[in-house]
Amino acid sequence: MIVNKSLLGNILSTLKKQMSEEPSSALILGSGLGEYADQLVSSVTVPTSSLPGYPRSSVHGHAGKIIIGHLPNDPQHRPLMVFKGRVHFYESGDLEKTLLPVHVASEMGARTLILTNAAGGINPRFRAGDLMVIEDYITIGTRGIRPPTDRSKDEEKLRTEKSAGKTDTKLIAHFKRSADAIGLPIQSGTYCWLLGPTYETPAEIEMLRRLGADAVGMSTVPELVRGSQLGMRVGGISLISNLAAGMSSEKLSHEEVTEAAKRVTVHFSNLMTTILTNLPQ
Ligand code: HPA
Repeated sequence: MIVNKSLLGNILSTLKKQMSEEPSSALILGSGLGEYADQLVSSVTVPTSSLPGYPRSSVHGHAGKIIIGHLPNDPQHRPLMVFKGRVHFYESGDLEKTLLPVHVASEMGARTLILTNAAGGINPRFRAGDLMVIEDYITIGTRGIRPPTDRSKDEEKLRTEKSAGKTDTKLIAHFKRSADAIGLPIQSGTYCWLLGPTYETPAEIEMLRRLGADAVGMSTVPELVRGSQLGMRVGGISLISNLAAGMSSEKLSHEEVTEAAKRVTVHFSNLMTTILTNLPQ
């Protein structure tokens, strides 16, 4: 396995001393979406700064907390593990650091992994504030960027598994049904992962549009791939926080992204709660 086993072991033993429940699902909250975790009840919160060797996020809006708790209206009272904030690949250049939370979630027992992010809208039908189910994804320029040093059999299998990296079609259908159930219009499309950290140029966005991308961002794909390789059901939802470069006259900024997240907090929260409380086993 690519991830550093002794680092993972230390983190898990520190976490398990404080968290006695086994989560059935895990949720990674992207830029500006962290507030969703605040409604959990009977919860335990561990700041990632207290976990030995856990990577820090330097990006505003990524708090660095791991929480296990329950949604107040979950009839089945299933424990949920929430990662408030993520560490982007561009922050360290080390994929292992970005993927650590996925391994933590899997080792803690989560069988479903839901990823969220803020993304730039490329599809001309999209508006800032839309939510988009990630149907599929495109990776450009980052595939195999850091060859693993440990070529164990396990790892070789992970890297060559044909079915690995697929988003779960049943989970995607559940996302859409959940949006329908609450009368929330939802987009769906292909997410393109670029390294970042700078936003794209209008020419790059035009290229991505022609390639079939509906939204662009700097995260999520590595976690989707690794989660599915570890046997979890994986799916993702993007908040279209802005129209991508060249699609509008607005200048892009991280503030715009977090502001957009604030505006759709209620929709996002209703959708996520509907998804999680009705999650098929
Ligand atoms: N581009 C890349 N990443 C992003 C964007 C964008 O326009 N918006 C939010 N994350």
